[in-house]
Amino acid sequence: MTDQYAVIGNPIAQSKSPIIHAAFARQLGHDLSYEALLAEVDDFDATVRGFIARGGKGMNVTAPFKLQALALSDRLSARAQAAQAVNTLSFTPDGILGDNTDGLGLVQDIRDQIGKPLAGARVLLVGAGGAARGVLLPLLQAGPRQLLLLNRSVEKARALIAPWAGAYPVAAGDLAAGAGGRFDVVINATSAGLSAQGLDLGAGLYAPDALAYDMVYGKGDTPFMADARRQGAARVADGLGMLVGQAAESFVIWRGVRPDVAAVRALLRQY
Ligand code: ATR
Repeated sequence: MTDQYAVIGNPIAQSKSPIIHAAFARQLGHDLSYEALLAEVDDFDATVRGFIARGGKGMNVTAPFKLQALALSDRLSARAQAAQAVNTLSFTPDGILGDNTDGLGLVQDIRDQIGKPLAGARVLLVGAGGAARGVLLPLLQAGPRQLLLLNRSVEKARALIAPWAGAYPVAAGDLAAGAGGRFDVVINATSAGLSAQGLDLGAGLYAPDALAYDMVYGKGDTPFMADARRQGAARVADGLGMLVGQAAESFVIWRGVRPDVAAVRALLRQY
């Protein structure tokens, strides 16, 4: 029987995950289906259990359900535990396994697709909400020389780094604390771009060969990317590659093989 997968969210019609996973399956000759499932906010658990009852093997989880997916999981990977959020569920005879592939998706896009080393780099991560929490540990594990986490509410940034400050070179500050820092990689993990408001991060943020990375994506430059170009970032990228990267990591978890992300990234750019 065809193995069934899905992405669940609300809204969900805009999700590119069905296109991505269908492309992975075609590429590797896997017999699987992957659908978009809309759940009402108070009906997440029942929708997931209904999908399991129909024979579902796994699910991606997007907004606003990543915390509910964490609570629903019988077991969690270390990275889901660290992220305190789940974007990948696997339905197994041992129960529901919760994982989080967002951070690896980001790391692989920056390091392997864009080709910007993270090991030894000076990294600035802006934001301390769910998006930042999801990627913080994988970024630290990529071996930066320094990671500075900035947030408008600085106490949230401090709380986020607290568990890791002993083991990794990580510090926190307010939005102005990175000015003049000449970072190699600057990542926007805030939702500020969505409202087209700029982030006032001050001048001198970028090293000569710096990469500015916005975790969101859209048509053309986001406001953060446009500002980064003006401020002299050598390269800018949006989060489309991260989206493909997290999907590829979910595919690895479910199917045990790694798809070619570059081909699918190129395909998505055409949409
Ligand atoms: P997400 O899950 O997308 O991270 P979130 O948990 O609501 O969403 O977090 C939103 C992040 O964007 C926070 O870091 C928030 O800063 P505060 O913690 O200070 O609220 C940040 N953010 C949103 N709008 C912003 C703005 N206009 N300027 C600066 N930061 C902003």
